[in-house]
Amino acid sequence: MFVKGVGMTRFDFSQKYWWELAYEAAMEALEDAKMNISQIDIIIFSSMSSTDGSEHQTHKVSLLAEIFKTNVPIIEVPAVCAGGGVAFWVGVNFLRTKRYRNILVVGAEHLVENVSEVVVDHILSASERFLEQMEGALFPVQNALLWQRYQQKYGATMDDLALISYKNHQNAVLNEKAYFYQRPVSLEQIKKSPVVASPFRLFDCSLSVNGGAAAIISRERTDIKILGTGFATDTILPFSRKDETHFLATKIAAKEAYREAKIRLSDIDVAEIHDAFSSVELFSYEDLGFAKEGEGAKLVREGYFNLDGKVPVNPSGGLKAKGHPISATGLAQVYEIVNQLRKRCGKRQIKNPKIGLCHNIGGAGGSVTVLIFKKI
Ligand code: COA
Repeated sequence: MFVKGVGMTRFDFSQKYWWELAYEAAMEALEDAKMNISQIDIIIFSSMSSTDGSEHQTHKVSLLAEIFKTNVPIIEVPAVCAGGGVAFWVGVNFLRTKRYRNILVVGAEHLVENVSEVVVDHILSASERFLEQMEGALFPVQNALLWQRYQQKYGATMDDLALISYKNHQNAVLNEKAYFYQRPVSLEQIKKSPVVASPFRLFDCSLSVNGGAAAIISRERTDIKILGTGFATDTILPFSRKDETHFLATKIAAKEAYREAKIRLSDIDVAEIHDAFSSVELFSYEDLGFAKEGEGAKLVREGYFNLDGKVPVNPSGGLKAKGHPISATGLAQVYEIVNQLRKRCGKRQIKNPKIGLCHNIGGAGGSVTVLIFKKI
């Protein structure tokens, strides 16, 4: 199975409808694949904003059929922040049935409006309603608590997290589709930014934005092979897990993807890792196997994950600085990795990457996908 083309809108606060963002990203992916919509056998899509306010449309598949001018099956895949990754995983499994040849996978979100309560409620619906939300455990709070546990156990510091955020901001400055494109942020600014949920500061949190991303996947051979895929789930309450400092779903999804890809971890040249919070990027290094448990921060200090490091992570700027439009994020990761493998990334291009990995999380480790791609 292969990737034919990828597309992505700019990530920003533009006031386009979610279906306009989906259309824009899909058209770019089709153009990249040198195809038109009539060659698509099935569409898989994900969008959280499709369930809200003036943009709410129960019969979304029909709305998309009209927009895309098609009569093929259209399937909606909801998995909050992992919506894009899970939609991709579902698409790959449809290809496996051999019934479909070319699939459009698309995620889009019009998340940020002027009414911030709506955005907050949207994001909150990805966590547990009664115990967490009613106790005020918003995502920054929940993740700050998990981070405190990690700190107690392994002794990493807020300065380590600031370095992760700084790396992602430096990369985003070079990405014309990222929110922070050409808007540099200093390490000092990051360390002195306002406290959001102690000890997390503003720059430890990802940035909610609007945007869309898409990929055309196919059974027809191209230069980008889908080498391995993994998808795992876990409890919605992270505090009811045996290990609160790491995400078991990441470990399981990664194991499955590595096994299918038949590669060693050292074969991976570049990765997009789900940095919903800087701490999540840190312990995901460990969950994915790039570092031993508790040793991720050591590699951060050595610059191991920098653009010129051994395994560059989040060359796009990540969720932190490119932005995080929930259901589009997993496919934006695919967009970056495919373009890195095709050497189209300009100033943020990594030297000669052959194998790339995407890691997409829904909630606090409640659903996770890992996708591995190879340039052939
Ligand atoms: N990093 C850097 N800058 C940020 C930012 C972030 N995470 N969030 C907002 N800003 C900036 C905005 O761009 C804006 O700048 P401007 O005035 O120059 O336009 C300014 O800060 C105020 O924006 P606003 O939207 O009012 O911020 P806020 O205080 O309402 O929200 C957070 C800040 C951290 C609470 C919010 O970004 C957040 O909740 N992030 C996490 C999202 C999340 O949980 N996603 C799901 C993960 S699983």
